[in-house]
Amino acid sequence: MSGTLYGLGVGPGDPELITLKALRLLQSVDLVAYPALEHGDSLARAIVAEHLPAGVEEYAIRVPMKVERFPAQEVYDTAAERLGAALDAGQSVAVLCEGDPFFYGSFMYLFGRLAERHRIEVVPGVSSLTACAARLGSPLAARNDTLVVLPAPLDDAALSARLDGVDAAAIIKVGRHFPRVRALIDRLGLTDRARYVERATMQTERILPLDAVEVDGAPYFSTILIHRRGEAWS
Ligand SMILES: C[S@@+](CC[C@H](N)C(=O)[O-])C[C@H]1O[C@@H](n2cnc3c(N)ncnc32)[C@H](O)[C@@H]1O
Repeated sequence: MSGTLYGLGVGPGDPELITLKALRLLQSVDLVAYPALEHGDSLARAIVAEHLPAGVEEYAIRVPMKVERFPAQEVYDTAAERLGAALDAGQSVAVLCEGDPFFYGSFMYLFGRLAERHRIEVVPGVSSLTACAARLGSPLAARNDTLVVLPAPLDDAALSARLDGVDAAAIIKVGRHFPRVRALIDRLGLTDRARYVERATMQTERILPLDAVEVDGAPYFSTILIHRRGEAWS
């Protein structure tokens, strides 16, 4: 009988922010797979390192950080083949996903390749969106507010159009786009409504006013939250 693939949300960084369900499954599967840098570590694995059973089989899916989609798509083809073979052999497999698997998570590329032929269960995780709000003490939205999630790589015109008149926004994938995004937020008069956090809930977390972030200092794992009223409750 073929095995089950679990897309496990492991939360935003604090190892205690994993769900009981994800923890139980993590400790019961035959194979644990996770995305990793082409020549480096895996954040998802680091988050659960203390929970990993000794000796469990591991598989690092090494994804090149390129703008073009194709090298990464080949990596997912290869990974899907490898995981598909394990499932066909009856193994149960967990794929670790930082935050939640279906909130901008790369797990969806494996899901898209494997869901037709294999049994897959997606286990939601604590997303960075809610973790950032918690750490910033800044509720995301209230009542009939609209909340938009904006990837920072969008150009200024697209970001301005979507920020125009919006109640609340989360700008993700900030990283090297920080100086441009900060200047845009300034031009839109939203600087005093914006909050910045990097690596929320991790030991290296930093919360800073926007103008205190070094120009080239924002890591990929940083997020800016904006609420037009300043506080969602007001
Ligand atoms: C590709 S998305 C993946 C989101 C993830 N699946 C989730 O549910 O949070 C990556 C972006 O999420 C945001 N992010 C993820 N973890 C974060 C954290 N611990 N602190 C701040 N932002 C984070 C950053 O903006 C980062 O560029």
